[in-house]
Amino acid sequence: MKGKRILLGITGGIAAYKIAFLIRLLKKEEAEVRCIMTPASCDFISPLTISTLSENPVYIDFWNQTNGEWTNHVDLGMWPDIFLIAPLTANSLAKLAHGYCDNLLTATYLSAKCEVIVAPAMDLDMYAHPTTFLNLEILQSHGVKIIPAEEGELASGLVGKGRLAEPETIVDVLKTHFQKKNDFIGKKVLITAGPTYEHIDPVRFIGNHSSGKMGFDIARCLLDQGAEIILVSGPTKETLHHPKLNLIKVISADEMLESVQQNWSNCTIGIFCAAVADYKPVMMSEQKIKKSDESFMIELVKNPDILEWAGQHKANNQFLVGFALETQNARQYAMNKKVKKNLDAIILNTLEDEGAGFGLTTNKIEIITPNNLFLSFPMKNKTEVASDIVSFIFENLD
Ligand code: C5P
Repeated sequence: MKGKRILLGITGGIAAYKIAFLIRLLKKEEAEVRCIMTPASCDFISPLTISTLSENPVYIDFWNQTNGEWTNHVDLGMWPDIFLIAPLTANSLAKLAHGYCDNLLTATYLSAKCEVIVAPAMDLDMYAHPTTFLNLEILQSHGVKIIPAEEGELASGLVGKGRLAEPETIVDVLKTHFQKKNDFIGKKVLITAGPTYEHIDPVRFIGNHSSGKMGFDIARCLLDQGAEIILVSGPTKETLHHPKLNLIKVISADEMLESVQQNWSNCTIGIFCAAVADYKPVMMSEQKIKKSDESFMIELVKNPDILEWAGQHKANNQFLVGFALETQNARQYAMNKKVKKNLDAIILNTLEDEGAGFGLTTNKIEIITPNNLFLSFPMKNKTEVASDIVSFIFENLD
């Protein structure tokens, strides 16, 4: 991390005492460290300690009380390669999630141009509270990386999840972040995600339980590594904002196909995770269909296969990955799909494994490689699965 500029934000929790060790480790790695402290954090660790260890003045207020000098939070936000906030208390987390800027740290967060990593720390009940969970989700959807709190003894005497990640763990996350950052620079990736909704009438549709999480996690991971992303997503609760992301929201398979057709030739990698409805109603009723007879028939017609279209229009320099969700003869069906759709690789998840697939936060995959080998992975959460898929793609690009 030699020469990397790390802006370290410290908020007011007991875990702030550990930041002295964290700064020592960062300095050992030859990183440049500047610190912003919230006023409350000064009760837990002295600015003098932080300033001495970081070898820089510490920023606390918008202006210096002694000489009246203004601290420019916009300049501070422009300076770092990474803005790390550790520990992040429940209070400061809520402020960041909702755009409050009542101190120098929160104002700098809103101005920061670099990527932000946060390491929350709080008592176990606060960490487990749905509000905290939602606030962390908001930060994540804004592209902030979270270093989860760890299990263990807490200052309250309770034992559970809420401890600040160990300084060594935080340094490892930063190191990996800087190492991986450049792998996909200059690469444009087209991703499809989520379900499609096929309208029956103005209020009803045919859809499925896909959450879109897998595709969004892959997008997040690639953005982290410098890729430019076009993410074509069906209806989902997932959100993501990033300067290098073009998020195209669609509803139906036909709309998804249209966006893919407009963008595929400009991309070098395609990752098609969307759970596209196989069939759509032959026609959509203009008016809400009234309840009348005992039974009711909807005539369906096959949807276009978007991935197959991309496979048919794949140039030599393009790498195309599809997904397969199978309930029986999984490997054989997935292999057939790989050939039929002209894919370089296919990610297989079988519904036979509890915890794998639709609408869940975990997944268990097998990758069929360009040489038709099977790579098996254990059950992991989707963020880690996304990282495995992205590493696999990087290793298999020409
Ligand atoms: O044929 P099957 O639907 O099982 O194939 C799954 C793969 O094909 C997934 O990668 C999915 O995103 C893609 N697909 C598609 N368009 C469809 C159906 C599936 O892009 N109409």
